[in-house]
Amino acid sequence: MKILALLSLVIYLVRSQKTSNDLKVDYYVNNIEAALKAAQTYQPRKNNSDLLGNTQNSTTIDYGEFDFIVVGSGSSGSAFAARMSEIAKFNILLLEAGEFDDDLTKLPYLSTLFEISDRNWGYFSTPQQNACLGWKNRQCSFPQGKILGGSGTIDFLTYIRGNKADYDKWASLGNPGWSFNDVLPFFKKLENYQSDHINMNYRGFGGPVDVAYKIPMPNFTISSNAYSEIGIATIEDYNAQKQIGVSRIQRLTHFGERVSGSTAYVRRTFTRYNFNVTLGAFVTKILINNSTKTASGVEFVKRGITYRATARKEVIISAGVVNTPQLLMLSGIGPSNELSKHKIPVIADLPVGRGLRGNVYFDVYFSTNNTVPLISFEDGVREFLKGRGYLTGFQNSVSISFMNTRNNCTTVPNVELTYYAQETIEGQIPALINFIPEVEKFASSLNLHKDVFFEISLLHPKSRGNITLKSSNPSDFPNVNLGMFEEVDDIEVLYESAQIAKALLKTNATKYLNATLVNYDFCSDNEYDSKPYWYCAIKHVAYPSYHWSSSVKMGPKDDPNAVVDNKLRVYGIKKLRIVDRSAVPITLSGTYNPSALMIGEKAADMIKKEYGVST
Ligand SMILES: Cc1cc2nc3c(=O)[nH]c(=O)nc-3n(C[C@H](O)[C@H](O)[C@H](O)COP(=O)(O)OP(=O)(O)OC[C@H]3O[C@@H](n4cnc5c(N)ncnc54)[C@H](O)[C@@H]3O)c2cc1C
Ligand SMILES: *[C@@H]1O[C@H](CO)[C@@H](O)[C@H](O)[C@H]1NC(C)=O
Ligand SMILES: *[C@@H]1O[C@H](CO)[C@@H](O)[C@H](O)[C@H]1NC(C)=O
Ligand SMILES: *[C@@H]1O[C@H](CO)[C@@H](O)[C@H](O)[C@H]1NC(C)=O
Ligand SMILES: *[C@@H]1O[C@H](CO)[C@@H](O)[C@H](O)[C@H]1NC(C)=O
Ligand SMILES: *[C@@H]1O[C@H](CO)[C@@H](O)[C@H](O)[C@H]1NC(C)=O
Ligand SMILES: *[C@@H]1O[C@H](CO)[C@@H](O)[C@H](O)[C@H]1NC(C)=O
Ligand SMILES: *[C@@H]1O[C@H](CO)[C@@H](O)[C@H](O)[C@H]1NC(C)=O
Ligand SMILES: *[C@@H]1O[C@H](CO)[C@@H](O)[C@H](O)[C@H]1NC(C)=O
Ligand SMILES: *[C@@H]1O[C@H](CO)[C@@H](O)[C@H](O)[C@H]1NC(C)=O
Ligand SMILES: *[C@@H]1O[C@H](CO)[C@@H](O)[C@H](O)[C@H]1NC(C)=O
Ligand SMILES: *[C@@H]1O[C@H](CO)[C@@H](O)[C@H](O)[C@H]1NC(C)=O
Repeated sequence: MKILALLSLVIYLVRSQKTSNDLKVDYYVNNIEAALKAAQTYQPRKNNSDLLGNTQNSTTIDYGEFDFIVVGSGSSGSAFAARMSEIAKFNILLLEAGEFDDDLTKLPYLSTLFEISDRNWGYFSTPQQNACLGWKNRQCSFPQGKILGGSGTIDFLTYIRGNKADYDKWASLGNPGWSFNDVLPFFKKLENYQSDHINMNYRGFGGPVDVAYKIPMPNFTISSNAYSEIGIATIEDYNAQKQIGVSRIQRLTHFGERVSGSTAYVRRTFTRYNFNVTLGAFVTKILINNSTKTASGVEFVKRGITYRATARKEVIISAGVVNTPQLLMLSGIGPSNELSKHKIPVIADLPVGRGLRGNVYFDVYFSTNNTVPLISFEDGVREFLKGRGYLTGFQNSVSISFMNTRNNCTTVPNVELTYYAQETIEGQIPALINFIPEVEKFASSLNLHKDVFFEISLLHPKSRGNITLKSSNPSDFPNVNLGMFEEVDDIEVLYESAQIAKALLKTNATKYLNATLVNYDFCSDNEYDSKPYWYCAIKHVAYPSYHWSSSVKMGPKDDPNAVVDNKLRVYGIKKLRIVDRSAVPITLSGTYNPSALMIGEKAADMIKKEYGVST
């Protein structure tokens, strides 16, 4: 009798588990289908009128006093604010223009979809002279996350810190405290690297940010052999002592789900009584006393109502590489000629927005007749719910390599190549399309179930861009001037890299693919596969990577382009710091989320110490 009752209970549990799992699968599949449908008719945002609402009639409401006000819960802002909230006597206000991250953002495979949604600010570059020729009006999309976790909630999750020499260069430019040895403890502190080959001199274990390999791990043998044939070694961990070589890809995932500033930091801490996280809050102005040159708080709009919040200790701006310079300029901190153009009274004349720089991507496609068995999307979701499988990665990326096309003895790469094998899941997640018809035709002729590609990242471009204002109205987007390929040598390095991609698909290891270079028919005025042909292709379809920096650059006082000092303090203004990627004065041989998180960790540690508290 008892046994029977127990047995029926077990059966009941097993059944109900199965049912609830099926419900979960349905839930995800339905949500994904709805998001795909919405993406088809999605129009990118054109301005911030949705965030501002109708504020004409409202008076300003006092939001209260806090010790630290943090503007933007991106990668840096989230790590920073959560760490600061560890100190019970600090009251922290975190203001974020976007809303909560959601169930779909948990799925790494869906990443390209978020660019086609309001999780993205919706920026496009200004018309480029020498680049983005394949895009309508020569304007490339420039996605930035508008959501809890910021760009780290919509990004592709690859975890590459960059080269030791990059950080040493950062310090050597007159910024003590930012050399590799200075920043390493913060990388270690934030990481929870899941590998059975951890080099504890370089990697962290037990931090809030999970860094993991996809399960099951893609078969890396072919990549490893192909690279070996062209003289490039396999390395275990590109985030340890050596970077040049080919490796497996590390991603920010936890049991297959996205890890971001939101999941790793804010969601774990925002119930602390001293931590106020206010979403949907669009900050339009930093309040600064012009006679004392001291920041005292911010003004923001939430659901059509204007608020003022006051900072007893400091105002911290973490609004990212585009919005941080915009907000500074709207508040009277920027180049005086630029501000006076828009009749903004100047509080501090500083080169805000200058020197924007970042990586550039160029994808080289090869068609093959190789077919791979496909799994259904539903089965993909089932696997995802077990923390594994195709949807826990970003497309079928298999390997990543770092090399220097100019110098095969150096330890610092100038390019990164990611190899994507055929997709093995039914259907395909769209990416933002705003191409001219010839390029759109080319893009739609690709079949990623058959074709393979190398995504080439130019790690240290020489070209520079800038962020300028369109007007003094916070509703207007700023201008994102990329200046892409203004230095023609940047095109040359991508051209050199494309030759390496070709060589890799001519090796014995990849012979089975019988791969042929996809024809960029929109460049058919040039001789096929000639250098002018490649230059044409690169100018048309290379695009700004998602890794940008230096728009509010760190530097010593005598650096004419510096806005903040090595403690992230804005020159000439008290109680105001910049804690995000816009302060980074260099390009990195990697992806930029790891260093964004590191900056948040390091800034919190530094500021706690300045205020006499240790952790
Ligand atoms: C599509 C895409 C793919 C990427 N892929 C990778 C990758 O694979 N690996 C990797 O390492 N990096 C990747 N990156 C880059 C990485 O995500 C960013 O470099 C990093 O997140 C930047 O951090 P941040 O704190 O400087 O800014 P962000 O994370 O962009 O945070 C800024 C935050 O401020 C908020 N904000 C802005 N203005 C205001 C305002 N006025 N008021 C209130 N809030 C405001 C924004 O909504 C946002 O949440 C990618 C980025 C994108 C966009
Ligand atoms: C702002 O964007 C909205 C919605 O996209 C649009 O209707 C409106 O015309 C835009 N306003 C301006 C001034 O461009
Ligand atoms: C603003 O206030 C005026 C006068 O009170 C009123 O006529 C108008 O409708 C209000 N506008 C909005 C958008 O509420
Ligand atoms: C990986 O691929 C290689 C080369 O095709 C093959 O020999 C090997 O069996 C594969 N390994 C696994 C685990 O599938
Ligand atoms: C490729 O295979 C051919 C024929 O088997 C062999 O002669 C050649 O040495 C191989 N090349 C490399 C680089 O392994
Ligand atoms: C944040 O502060 C505001 C204004 O003081 C208050 O209304 C709100 O309830 C607070 N939110 C949290 C989560 O503490
Ligand atoms: C600026 O600070 C000075 C000195 O504390 C004070 O007298 C003045 O009222 C402040 N101005 C404003 C606009 O708050
Ligand atoms: C700030 O004060 C300076 C003089 O010290 C003046 O030139 C400038 O216009 C003032 N700016 C604002 C915003 O009032
Ligand atoms: C694929 O097969 C078709 C038909 O057999 C052939 O025309 C084409 O050249 C092949 N392509 C590749 C890349 O092998
Ligand atoms: C290294 O560079 C030298 C000089 O550019 C070149 O001759 C040599 O072939 C290169 N070696 C490899 C393995 O690429
Ligand atoms: C910003 O960049 C654009 C395009 O590269 C350039 O024409 C312009 O002169 C730059 N402006 C500033 C202020 O640097
Ligand atoms: C390989 O590709 C070439 C050129 O596209 C084609 O002619 C040939 O049939 C293909 N071979 C196989 C085995 O698919």
